[in-house]
Amino acid sequence: MTGERLGSALLARAWARRTPSLRRGRGRVQAWAALVQLLLTLTGLEAGANDFSLVQPLVTMEQLLWVSGRQIGQVDTFRIPLITVTPRGTLLAFAEARKMSASDEGAKFIALRRSTNQGSTWSPTAFIVDDGETPDGLNLGAVVSDTETGVVFLIYSLCAHKAGCSVASTMLIWSKDDGISWSPPRNLSVDIGTEMFAPGPGSGIQKRHEPHKGRLIVCGHGTLERDGVSCLLSDDHGASWRYGGMISGIPYGQPKRQNDFNPDECQPYELPDGSVVINARNQNNYHCRCRIVLHSYDACDTLRPRDVTFDPELVDPVVAAGAVATNSGIVFFSNPAHPEFRVNLTLRWSFSNGTSWQKETVQLWPGPSGYSSLTALEGNAYGQQASQLYVLYEKGQSHYTESISLVKVSIYGEL
Ligand SMILES: *[C@@H]1O[C@H](CO)[C@@H](O)[C@H](O)[C@H]1NC(C)=O
Ligand SMILES: *[C@@H]1O[C@H](CO)[C@@H](O)[C@H](O)[C@H]1NC(C)=O
Ligand SMILES: *[C@@H]1O[C@H](CO)[C@@H](O)[C@H](O)[C@H]1NC(C)=O
Repeated sequence: MTGERLGSALLARAWARRTPSLRRGRGRVQAWAALVQLLLTLTGLEAGANDFSLVQPLVTMEQLLWVSGRQIGQVDTFRIPLITVTPRGTLLAFAEARKMSASDEGAKFIALRRSTNQGSTWSPTAFIVDDGETPDGLNLGAVVSDTETGVVFLIYSLCAHKAGCSVASTMLIWSKDDGISWSPPRNLSVDIGTEMFAPGPGSGIQKRHEPHKGRLIVCGHGTLERDGVSCLLSDDHGASWRYGGMISGIPYGQPKRQNDFNPDECQPYELPDGSVVINARNQNNYHCRCRIVLHSYDACDTLRPRDVTFDPELVDPVVAAGAVATNSGIVFFSNPAHPEFRVNLTLRWSFSNGTSWQKETVQLWPGPSGYSSLTALEGNAYGQQASQLYVLYEKGQSHYTESISLVKVSIYGEL
């Protein structure tokens, strides 16, 4: 099937869904498709543009993956959701399982659940890392896969707050069997130093385009010594890692005040021209109550002040947000869309590489909602499997730490 014909079939289906009477007759759908095709031809739209016109995000499923309150493994609080699709199409969901309290400090497990059926059912919770009884234990983290080797990497920090411990460490674990078993932790600080680096939280990326196609990039933030945003890079499939460029906060290495420049938790994605955007939390509300957008044109070897912008459309209450670019060129973004409070978890999408956002949004949850993470499972060229977006986010009735919820969104509105 050519892209164009597939496009009109999808469009007809999308129209049929919106116009219930059309579901009754195949002939009428075909008639609509022919009419739509004629209109598209008359208006001179190309096949590429058709695809964007078919985008109609539709929530098709939601389920809680973790509930706080000592019901699962005696864990007090689940926070900091990460979700990814492995190169083999398995969904992996991670969270911090905070053993004794909701605090960012304290002892934790890393919790993992897997789904091999596009998110319909999930494995029971596995605790893949246990930091024992440390006063300032592990913090997630970023997950990234190498599509060539199929290996999945998870990077997290230890002693990020220096609370009852004095040296921060950046740790790496990996899985060669799609998340079933994991390596013992490797201490990356031996190679990259012990400056505090808090990856993500969210996903790393593997460069799909030049420059540095195949490079693994994990971005995160530091506190005082290395405050600001920097990225860890690997050009050898995750065997060795080093820091790329950095955008520091101002004033550098000093405590910040309200409205100082202080880029914080962040999520990278790659654009079709091979540049990398890093969408960052604006910790001290510099310039706006909205997201900081960093841009790198050399696969994060450098991050330059001249490439720092702000996105006033992405109003934000100072939080970790989700962002992902699909192979088809759509950029999705999720956050609690409110200038002050962590409420109103909202999904947005862009057809212009994130330079503007569609007016239509999907409100996933009006109430308390916090961190979120996105991943896309994309259909093949023949449309045999619909393209899906997954949102894993902190959700509650009265507080966002109550649970971690998974939403499945059909990108083209197919049930
Ligand atoms: C990691 O390595 C650094 C540098 O050698 C060391 O100071 C730190 O204690 C190590 N962390 C762990 C958890 O072993
Ligand atoms: C929720 O977000 C949407 C999208 O930005 C916005 O239109 C709406 O006003 C927000 N609602 C609240 C209560 O902030
Ligand atoms: C997005 O980036 C791609 C690659 O650089 C470019 O071809 C396309 O025109 C851009 N889209 C918009 C709407 O700017």
